[in-house]
Amino acid sequence: MESRQMIEFPPQFLWGAATAAHQVEGQNSNNDWWEWEHLGGKIADGTTSETACDQYNRYEEDFDLARKLGHNAHRLSLEWSRIEPQEGVFAQSEIEHYRRVLTALRERGLEPFVTLHHFTNPLWLARKGGWENPKAVDYFTRYVRVVASELGGLVRFWNTINEPMVYAFESYIEGKGPPGAKSLRSASLVIVAMLRAHALAYHIIHETSPGPQCDVGIAKHMRVFDPMRPRHPGDRAFARVSDFIFNSWFLDAIETGRLAWPIGIGQKVQALAGTHDFIGLNYYTRDMTRFSPLKPQLLFIENIVRPGSPVNDLGWEIYPEGIHQLLMRLKKKYDKPIYITENGIPAVDDSMRLAYIRDHLLQTHRAISDGADVRGYLHWSLLDNFEWAEGLTPRFGLIAMDYETQRRAPRPSAEAYAKVAAGNRLDPAWVD
Ligand code: GAL
Repeated sequence: MESRQMIEFPPQFLWGAATAAHQVEGQNSNNDWWEWEHLGGKIADGTTSETACDQYNRYEEDFDLARKLGHNAHRLSLEWSRIEPQEGVFAQSEIEHYRRVLTALRERGLEPFVTLHHFTNPLWLARKGGWENPKAVDYFTRYVRVVASELGGLVRFWNTINEPMVYAFESYIEGKGPPGAKSLRSASLVIVAMLRAHALAYHIIHETSPGPQCDVGIAKHMRVFDPMRPRHPGDRAFARVSDFIFNSWFLDAIETGRLAWPIGIGQKVQALAGTHDFIGLNYYTRDMTRFSPLKPQLLFIENIVRPGSPVNDLGWEIYPEGIHQLLMRLKKKYDKPIYITENGIPAVDDSMRLAYIRDHLLQTHRAISDGADVRGYLHWSLLDNFEWAEGLTPRFGLIAMDYETQRRAPRPSAEAYAKVAAGNRLDPAWVD
């Protein structure tokens, strides 16, 4: 009888989950997202982050759970507004808090992946115009210098900025997050500022961090863009444009050190070229692109869900082949180690999460067999949490949250994922 092909992952593969401070910590009342939530009418289900998962106080319990679930890595973000509550004033007590958090991860054998900016800004920065303020880059790098010198000894993997294109799109074009702008010009300014901030942060971390080794990159959200009407020249062209701007522009700029069209004109940015040691890929879904003459404000591009395709609770297409496609592209274009820094599904029905994890891991494994240097997978998310403009309703967690009682309950998908992590392989029986 022919033996079934083993679905083994490379040795030392990192397995874990990803989170972000504002979504899990609770009481982040000194940042622009908190203020935005409390304006009223901004969050789809009318909730606010409030206590969220209270992870600020319960991190040990959560990391115990992650360890029990076989994880050996964990992605989290530091909340800038806690560390620098007022402009230029750094709170040593909060730095010590994060020192305890990172130590707690290390004590449990969880390799930390630390994000320095995950969508939220301190209120003082928001009041000064946020990332549109020409001094934002200096403010960010001052914070990075403090954090890298204080906490660098505990961290090997750094994500400078989470999903800069998503941040610019949602907060400055769609207006779905603070400051609620709808301006292509503002979005472009913010993207370029974040790029400069990333480049400087990269060098600061390498110069400052006392740790024996550090690897710095961004967490890049990528989606597949396919033409809605495969033969329609407009749809095809605009799918390519969406893909270029959303998926490639920022990474290409890091790689080449230049600002390409349409955000730049090919000009060089000092100290930018080559400022990533790895690529963090956040992957969720695919969009079908359609040329839309009625949407000049969005460059005539409309992205929709493929009719009839399987979707998650937020209506996004479930498209596992996409992760293989994007991993292969990353390998070909940049040839850097890749960590999947987010991949997950909002689903009340946990069997959907189970299938989603299995199918995306299979496609990831296929990409590894095809030569992609994938070294880790961090599922979004460890726990249900505050999903930005969607509020507390979407359920992304391996662990279910009861927000009233703060009780945590690992779902069956968490147990299945634990077996993968513990064995460093997918059980062929699960796949059949
Ligand atoms: C990402 C984001 C996360 C999380 C996730 C699920 O774009 O980085 O914070 O919200 O999407 O939608």
